[in-house]
Amino acid sequence: MNHEKMELTAKKIIHTIEDFAPKNLAIEGDNIGLQVGNDLNKSVERVGIALDPSLKVIKEAYNKNVDFLFTHHPILKDPINSFNGLIYEKLKILIEGDIILYSAHTNLDICKNGLNDALTKLYNLKDVDYLYSNGLGRIGIFNGTFEDILHLTKKYLSETPKVINSEIVGDKKAFKVAVLSGYGLSQRDIARVSKLTDVYISGDLTHHSEILAEDLNLCVVDAGHYGTEVYGLKEFMKYLNEVFNNDIEIISLDF
Ligand SMILES: [Fe+2]
Repeated sequence: MNHEKMELTAKKIIHTIEDFAPKNLAIEGDNIGLQVGNDLNKSVERVGIALDPSLKVIKEAYNKNVDFLFTHHPILKDPINSFNGLIYEKLKILIEGDIILYSAHTNLDICKNGLNDALTKLYNLKDVDYLYSNGLGRIGIFNGTFEDILHLTKKYLSETPKVINSEIVGDKKAFKVAVLSGYGLSQRDIARVSKLTDVYISGDLTHHSEILAEDLNLCVVDAGHYGTEVYGLKEFMKYLNEVFNNDIEIISLDF
């Protein structure tokens, strides 16, 4: 049977995103939801998906006639007082191109089948629990060797992960693993996670976090902020493609 194209409004797309990643899951103060745009009844033919609303991504969205740009990271983290410089440039292009910008950040990390669950599935973790009570991160049992962990990491997240203390795992065939998409390797995170597990896979390891992980005997696999989040974003893009079944074109802009 032929699938007849349905007209889709921005409102409908937002509704679908929020069904998947409910806004109430986001951690307090996170700047999620509609970022730039006014007319949500506008018809959308092309959706762009990206990790970051960078100038490069926004220009790419404009050049590719994107009507609706979805990004994981919001356009602003902290409040600002004036619209000049980079933010002015970004807004100018978005408005000129009549592009709606929408973000699902920690709600997409936390939600069922979101970015953290994507990592859980990649490593096929068993007996999975939340790493943090707010829903961020996951912890479970990995059945396999550390070599298997590295293989999956290099194949799907980052070709060059940074590994600390891998000798802790030795030749174990099953062990506890924690995962957290994005920036999960702060000193606070390392201190907490070292009490819960031997292996922690996340992103954005700093010098001080690295030293702390060494001191606390935590095996860390830094697969990058980008690597640990884009993996789940690709899965999210697949989901949107299934739901919209060719009614709209969905293109990736920074992965
Ligand atoms: Fe992130």
